[in-house]
Amino acid sequence: MRAGPRGRAARAAMAGGEQRLPGGPERVALKKEIGLVSACAIIIGNIIGSGIFISPKGVLEHAGSVGLALIIWVLGGGVAALGSLCYAELGVTIPKSGGDYSYVTEIFGGLAGFLLLWSAVLIMYPTSLAVIALTFSNYVLQPVFPNCIPPYNASRILSMVCLLLLTWVNSSSVRWATRIQDIFTAGKLLALTLIIVVGFIQIFKGNYKELTPSNAFRFWMTPSVGHLALAFLQGSFAFSGWNFLNYVTEELVDPRRLCFSGAREGHLPSLLAMIHVKNCTPIPALLICCLATLIIMLVGDTYTLINYVSFINYLCYGVTIIGLIVLRWRKPKIFRPIKVNLLIPITYLAFWAFLLVFSLYSEPIVCGIGLIIILTGVPVFFLGVYWRNKPKCVNRLIESLTCWGQKLCFVVYPQCGSAEEEHSHSSSSHSWRLVSDTAVRKSHQRGL
Ligand code: TRP
Repeated sequence: MRAGPRGRAARAAMAGGEQRLPGGPERVALKKEIGLVSACAIIIGNIIGSGIFISPKGVLEHAGSVGLALIIWVLGGGVAALGSLCYAELGVTIPKSGGDYSYVTEIFGGLAGFLLLWSAVLIMYPTSLAVIALTFSNYVLQPVFPNCIPPYNASRILSMVCLLLLTWVNSSSVRWATRIQDIFTAGKLLALTLIIVVGFIQIFKGNYKELTPSNAFRFWMTPSVGHLALAFLQGSFAFSGWNFLNYVTEELVDPRRLCFSGAREGHLPSLLAMIHVKNCTPIPALLICCLATLIIMLVGDTYTLINYVSFINYLCYGVTIIGLIVLRWRKPKIFRPIKVNLLIPITYLAFWAFLLVFSLYSEPIVCGIGLIIILTGVPVFFLGVYWRNKPKCVNRLIESLTCWGQKLCFVVYPQCGSAEEEHSHSSSSHSWRLVSDTAVRKSHQRGL
């Protein structure tokens, strides 16, 4: 499970990620330390999850033939590549942490950004975790049920146990969380290499009859456009996560993932961005993520969950890429170190519109529920974020809940020092303090 970014965030917060630039004592910037190799590792580690081990079945089922399934995989990869080129432009044009959330907030305003954050925190990430855990449990249980598919409830229970265990590890030790993450990443890469190598060995041995065009395009059912859209949704789950580096662009050494950026804008309770005083682990965010994942595991089966998460994910990617075009039109002159050909976002969006319309058409309930969950964020936005002059008693209640949560989880909002401080302070002497939501927002408004 993706412990790494949070772990790194905590470690960075512990070490202090800020640095004064030589030319200007007032300018405080953040060290950029993640090089090309680490950046690639972050993206690969995030993209390769459970998808490649589970969605081929979903793709094949909907595509109706091996050949079309392979074409869908190639197209899905191509579309993900187009999307990531657009994100590269956005990432260097709006160099803020928080990725799509920050771009959408900047371009379309608070409500759109909030809805994206809402769907990411409530659906996208917990659902992708649920799929990863369920896939893992399925594979672990398969040897116990050699002649049939493991019962869904057995997979469910095992995945819940794994989730609780990993939440505990992630809450108690960044080092152990990172170690486990490294072991599982190595395991995933090993399994993939094994599958690829065995595949090539079979091809070289001459066992490629099924790949010859006459066999590969023998359809066992004629797929409708709706089926094709669903096949794409299944495949794109495996490719999802290519936007991950954009969450950490601002400093690259102090990855804050979404919760920090959300709390900074006042879109999330500051408690969710707080980390444990000693372990430097984001316990409240982990607990919320664990709870949401447990609930989601109870709700749907793996393939439905994949449709869910891919649909919402696609929606968010597309809205962000529309933002790229809007920004080109609104601010044509701003400096863009990377400027992609306009055909790239347009092609992406054409594909995006096709996929959304047809998946909504063939899975109206799953996609409709996804849309409704996103829209439930609207009243929450107006009540929680837009309504600034709340009665004192409401503010007091929020503050006391935050304080209560802080005491319960022993967490504080990380306050990073400058580079000088970083050198002269040990990690434990960093300036931790108990803060309220208002204090966090005010300090950010002052540029701290
Ligand atoms: N690609 C990942 C996998 O195959 C899933 C994933 C990673 C994901 N990041 C995501 C899914 C963001 C949806 C949204 O397991």
